[in-house]
Formats: sequence, structure tokens, C-alpha cells
Amino acid sequence: MLSKSPAWTALQAHADDMHHFDLAAHFQTFPERARGFSFGHAGLYFDYSKNLITDHTMKLLMDLARQQNVPKKRDAMFAGEKINKSENRAVLHTALRAPKDAVIEIDGENIMPTIAKNRAQMKNFADHFQKGAILGATGKPLTHVINIGIGGSDLGPRMVCDALKSYQNKNISLRFVSNIDGADIHEALKNANPETTLFVIASKSFTTQETMQNAVTARAWLETHIKNNDSAVSAHFVALTKNADKAAAFGIKENHIFIFHDWVGGRYSLWSPIGLSIALAIGFDGFQSLLDGAYVMDNHFREAPLEHNMSVILGLLGVWYRNFMGAQSYAVLPYAEDLALFPSWLQQLDMESNGKSTTIDGDIIDYDTGAVVFGQTGTNAQHAFHQLLHQGTALIPADFIGFVKANHPYDEHQQILLAHMIAQAQALMEGRTYEEKARHFDGNRPSTMILLDRLDPFHLGMLLALYEHKIFVQGALWNINSFDQWGVELGKELAARILNPGQNMQMDASTKNLLAYLQNHTVL
Ligand code: F6P
Repeated sequence: MLSKSPAWTALQAHADDMHHFDLAAHFQTFPERARGFSFGHAGLYFDYSKNLITDHTMKLLMDLARQQNVPKKRDAMFAGEKINKSENRAVLHTALRAPKDAVIEIDGENIMPTIAKNRAQMKNFADHFQKGAILGATGKPLTHVINIGIGGSDLGPRMVCDALKSYQNKNISLRFVSNIDGADIHEALKNANPETTLFVIASKSFTTQETMQNAVTARAWLETHIKNNDSAVSAHFVALTKNADKAAAFGIKENHIFIFHDWVGGRYSLWSPIGLSIALAIGFDGFQSLLDGAYVMDNHFREAPLEHNMSVILGLLGVWYRNFMGAQSYAVLPYAEDLALFPSWLQQLDMESNGKSTTIDGDIIDYDTGAVVFGQTGTNAQHAFHQLLHQGTALIPADFIGFVKANHPYDEHQQILLAHMIAQAQALMEGRTYEEKARHFDGNRPSTMILLDRLDPFHLGMLLALYEHKIFVQGALWNINSFDQWGVELGKELAARILNPGQNMQMDASTKNLLAYLQNHTVL
């Protein structure tokens, strides 16, 4: 078991000493740690010097990475081995970013020609859409996109479109619907023009209840507004899915079905046809640039030595705090309003991937895994929950994400924003000695700084891939399967039972009581 292994027990012993570590004092004695624990790559500067670590901590963490075969597991993922054991699937979102002449095989078959074909279909559609050449059933150009999906089929494209809105074609508008709460689709349809709206139904399985119900409601709405027109659904709907048959049965025509495969996990799918809405909004070249940025980070993850590998270091730091320093959560703090949805995207990516309590071989584990992720953009977060980061009783490591250049013309705002970001990391580390206890800050609170040149498609691609690989590294260290999500199934099944009144009798007393309350109010 990992928890009894040499690298793990060495870290435990070291952690006992590190509970007394004084970060600010260490900087005074060793000012060179600022340079020693930071480096850059392709416009991304990574500074992990304000963490509760020494050279010895990093050495022990690297020992853990080697003991847990992180490089071998990484290479197995990139090589298309079936590392998602419980579903017997390869995990190849990285292939979606690879150049078309790469050779990546699953069961001896090169998947790159299929990826190139899918990309070409997306490009063709996005190019026509951007030119106003995709016409609706009444002959008008489609200019408004409603993306219907949930989880990985929503959070990724929604976050990227929001983050890159400065790059969006101004003739195009976009909206995302995910929730089964009718308020969501109602709001989206309220002012939409049926003649110019394109519905993008994003669902890997094409069976997810929320998505299918929203899609059915959208289809009914369209058919009420565009009457007696056989081509209404086929002109106004596209599907992004691995389940072509189900999409066709829904009424979507063949060349409007964009296929991807089992080896793309839902929360890793924005690089696949699930990213169509991104390409529609910013154009295919922008989407390609996003892929290129991720590819640069893929290569960094594959090739950089562990000691100089951003995702490896980020993953190891996460394990250091979670398993050895008592942290239960971490905060992600983008100092960029356009990254407002980044924490939600990261929540699914991290918590659905690493919220596990068995090893990849199915054994129960006796150590902690995935941390709770939360966050918000700065400086807003400073006026919301930073109080707890500074003076609360829990240890909460923070990742700050900032951009050197802004996508707006207000330089003064950018200077103030970045000054606040740097100041927060400094305050967390240094604290302040004050006689009055309520005003005293202990300091010694760790943070990592990630600085990118600009929030553009390329650097966003790098940032997202950095976190994808961080989460992979943690899964590899913990020896869990980061690519299944069996924990979400039970709730889906129970909801189906609740909707089927014949079976209600088998329920526990509390659930029955709640159901009775709603039945009395004639809801269920
Ligand atoms: O929440 C469970 C989940 O399976 C996610 O992993 C996935 O991203 C989401 O549902 C949506 O699934 P689909 O794309 O098949 O509709």
C-alpha cells in the first residue's frame, strides 16, 4: 500500500519537521529560492517559491513521483494504452491536440486520420458559419448559437467561450443551457429568434437526461415557430456525440453530426467536436490556436525532467498539502474577469477525476485523495472569502493566475489588478504581527503564481492542459483511476425511480416523507 511505502513514510517524517517551517524567514536566509523555485516556458511563468517546501521537500516529492512510476504512467497515457481500467478505455484527449501527421495508435490502429477528418468537418462548418453561410429553414443565416449540454459537454466550451469573448466574431451570439431547471432553457428561448438560431446538442452519450429533455424542449419550440417545414430540425440542429444513431433518431442530419470517441473523457472533451461552439464563436483558427497551446504543454509534460515539469510540480504540491500538511481544499484565483468560469471548469476536472476511494485495481485506500476546489476571480474574491484564507483556521493553498497583458485598453486597471494579486500572495506569506490578536495575521500561508503573457487562445490552451496534467499526476501518485466517474451513477438511478411512482414503496422513510410533501403540492 502506498501509505506504507518508503517515499510516503519519508515524506511523513519530513512533514513533522515542516510544520515548524517559516516561509518568510526562509526567504530572508535563502533569497535565491525566488529564482530557484520558478521558471518559464512558452509565455507561462511558473513561480512555486511561496510554498511550504525546501529543496529537501522537493527531493522527497520527486522520489514519490518516481516510486509511483509517474513517467511510465504518463507515457502509457500518451501511447494510447487502456489506462482507464474500469471502462477498458484509452485516454487520448492529448491526441486531439497533436499535429495531423503524428501517429497515435489504439489497438494497432492510427487514430490521427480520424481526428484530422473530424477537425476538417468542424473547420468547414465553422468557416461557413462565420461567413453567415449556414442557413436556417427559412433561408436566413444562423447567427445565434444555443449550446445544450451538461458537465464536460458544457463547462469546458462555456468557460473557453467566456474567457475568449474578446476574440468572438461580433455578428455571432452565444448562449449555454445546461440545467434541467426549466428556467435555464426558458431564459434562452425567451428572446431567441427561431429563424436564426442554431442548437448545438453536446452529449457524448446522447442519453443524459438533462440534455435530452432540454433538446426536446428546444425542438418543440422550434417546430411551433417554424411550422410545416420538414427541414426545420435538420437545418437548425447539430449534434456533438459518440452516439451517431441516437442523434440521427432525434432528427439530426448526417453532416450535422460531429463524432468523437470513447477515448475522450467528458471532462477532457473541449478539444474534440464538443468544442464546436468555441470554433463557431472565435473561428476555427482561434480553436486551432487553443489546441496548439495545449500541445505545447503536452510536450512540456512529456519531455521536461520531473524537476522542471510544471504539471508534475503542481501535482506533487497538491499531494504534499493534502496528504502531509492537512489541507482539505485549495483555492484557484484567476486575476482576470474573463476567467470567471475557470473555477467551475476546474471543479469538475479535478473533483470528478480524483474524488475516488479505491485504487485503480479496486482496493480500498487508506489515504486521502482529491481535495475540494473552490475559487473566484480576483479582486472580487478578496472581498468575499480571502478573510478565511488569511486568518481562518484551515490551511488552504492558493493558485494565483494572472496575465501580463490585458485584452482591454484600461492600463491603469491592469496595474491595480496585478498589484493586488502580488500583494495577496505576499500578505498570505508574510502575515502581520500585531498586538491586538484580532488584527494579527500568522502568515506562512502557501501560494503558487502562474503568470501568462495574455489571455489568448494559445495561452489559455496551455493553462488548461497544465491543470489537466496536474490532475493526471495526482491520480498517478495516488494510484487511482482519474478517468471514470461511477460515483455519479447512483443519483441518476434514484431520480429515475422517483419519477416512476410504482417503485416508491421501496424507499427509505426520509425520502418517502419528502416525496409525500411534494405529492401533496402536486409537483411529483
Ligand atoms: O456527470 C456525469 C457525466 O457523465 C460527466 O462525466 C459528463 O461530462 C456529463 O455527465 C455529461 O455526459 P454526456 O456528454 O454524455 O451528456
